[in-house]
Amino acid sequence: MEKETGKKEVFESAESFNEDILASALKTSLFGKNILFRDTIGSTNVFLKRLADEGAPEGTVVVADEQSAGMGRLGREWFSKKGENLLFSVLLRPQLPPTQLFVLTMIFALAGIEAIVDISGVNTKIKWPNDIYVGGKKLGGMLTEFSVVHGAVQHVVLGMGLNVNWNPAAERTVLYPTASIFSEIQEKVSREEILTNLLQRLEVSYYEIGRDMGRTEVFFEKWNEKSLILGKTVVIETGKERIEGEAAGIDRDGALRLITTSGDEQKFHCGDVSVKMNLSEQRNF
Ligand code: BTN
Repeated sequence: MEKETGKKEVFESAESFNEDILASALKTSLFGKNILFRDTIGSTNVFLKRLADEGAPEGTVVVADEQSAGMGRLGREWFSKKGENLLFSVLLRPQLPPTQLFVLTMIFALAGIEAIVDISGVNTKIKWPNDIYVGGKKLGGMLTEFSVVHGAVQHVVLGMGLNVNWNPAAERTVLYPTASIFSEIQEKVSREEILTNLLQRLEVSYYEIGRDMGRTEVFFEKWNEKSLILGKTVVIETGKERIEGEAAGIDRDGALRLITTSGDEQKFHCGDVSVKMNLSEQRNF
């Protein structure tokens, strides 16, 4: 009970992002020890990649209230209204080969959906490879970028955009079905509280992987449990082709395994997936 009261006092502002609140609430030893907040920035990922090249320490976090050139996957734009959502990037310098970096996107996604449900009660799912969904609508997305020199990973930048207090229904042009925490619960929540919770979870998982790569298996299992598409009939569009099949699983390198309608297995490293639903499912989605 006492903890709850304390929590409310610490995170009482839901309107403007407060970096001091974030810094004092974070109980991490790595993520967010070095934290930079910007009112407006081009892209938190681009900025953090530059800092990484200049030697910024692992765990550096960049948060922005607004991005003028927010980037999504496959060169797309990431739109977010100023002051309403979470836009941030985290710098990692993992001891992992490039082929195993997908586990970092996994622990990032899991930290995101666990923080969301913890703070707001909204249950979200992960849509391969990098989306956070609720009720058939996109609530967030991740962009993982990394640098490799002579086969060795120099740094990884994990970027996430989460729709928090924004009301997509008030927007004239949204390109695809979009949700936010606000659209789900009709209540504003503290962005600082979600980010604090998320970074703490991310740090625990990151240390677990660092100590024991065997833990990777556990994260694959958790990720599968939260997958929106696993076991479902999906259509993947790669830009070159459109293939239907059953989503059978994810490989260690993040490739999606699809059992196509002709029965053979195909692997995809990128593409847009949509779930094929029959009529009764469409009503409940
Ligand atoms: C996607 O859904 O395609 C990924 C969206 C990722 C958006 C986040 S917002 C913070 C970070 N900075 C960026 O420019 N992109 C990511």
